[in-house]
Amino acid sequence: MAEFIGERSRLYKECLREFPNAREEDIEVMKKYLAPKDNEVILEIGAGSGFFSKRLSKMVKRLIVSDPSDEQLEEVKELKRKNIELIEEGADTLTLRKEKVDAIWSFGAMHHCFNKTKAFQNFARMLKKGGRLILADVWHGSKLAKHFDDKVAKFCVTGHEVAFWTDEFAESLCFLAGLEKPKIYDLNIKWKFDTKEEIGTFLYKIHAMTKTTPQECLKGAEEILGIENKGDKFCLNWPMKVMVSKK
Ligand SMILES: C[S@@+](CC[C@H](N)C(=O)[O-])C[C@H]1O[C@@H](n2cnc3c(N)ncnc32)[C@H](O)[C@@H]1O
Repeated sequence: MAEFIGERSRLYKECLREFPNAREEDIEVMKKYLAPKDNEVILEIGAGSGFFSKRLSKMVKRLIVSDPSDEQLEEVKELKRKNIELIEEGADTLTLRKEKVDAIWSFGAMHHCFNKTKAFQNFARMLKKGGRLILADVWHGSKLAKHFDDKVAKFCVTGHEVAFWTDEFAESLCFLAGLEKPKIYDLNIKWKFDTKEEIGTFLYKIHAMTKTTPQECLKGAEEILGIENKGDKFCLNWPMKVMVSKK
C-alpha cells in the first residue's frame, strides 16, 4: 500500500508531534479493550508512526509493530526499544508463523485494507489459542465515515479510497476465520485541543488535506463531527467502534 508515503506520511508524523496530547482518549480505549499484560506478546497492525507502540511497548513483554509503509515506521525505529520487532507488511500480507501472539491490536488502520478476508486468515493463524483480536476503526454510516467520504476523499493529497466496516461484515469475517463472534462497542472518543483553530490545523495535517485550508477543515468538522467546549478544552467528536473477538 503506497498511500502513507511522501507528503501524506510527513504531515501525519508532524501532526502527532505537534499535538501529542490530543489523542489521550485513544490510549484509554487501548487500555480498556486490549488490556495488555506484561508477560504478553502483542501484534500491532497498521501502527503508523507509533502513537500506541511507544506506550504499549512499555506495558508488554514483546511488541511486534507492523505497517506496510516504511516511512510511517521510521519513528518507531527511532524509539530503539529492545522489545519491539518491526514488520513492514499490511494486515493482508503478514507472513508471521503460527500461534505466535497473545493479542492483536489495531486502531484506525483496517479501513485501508482491501483484503480483509486474507487479513483475518492471517490473524487466526498468528493468534495463540484463546488469543484476543481487538480492532478499533471507522464504521459505515457513522459521522466519521461521512467526514472521510465528504471531506478527506476530496481534499487529501492521496485521495481516500477505503472500505469501512459494518457489524455484519465483522461477524462474517470472524465466522469465516474460525474466530469467536465479535462483541462490537461504540467509542464516543473526543480529541482535545486548547483552541478551536488547532482542530483545523490538526485535521489538515493528520489527513494531509493539502487541497484545502485548515480553516475549511475546521468548518467541515463543525458541520459533520461536532465540536464541544468543555472547561478550557475544545473537544472534537471522533465516533469509532471497536470489535473484540477471540480464537
Ligand atoms: C490513520 S493511520 C493510523 C496509524 C496508527 N494506528 C495511529 O493510530 O496513529 C493508518 C495506517 O494504516 C496503514 N495501512 C495502510 N494499508 C494497510 C493494510 N493493508 N494493513 C494494515 N495497515 C495498513 C497506513 O500505512 C497507516 O500507517
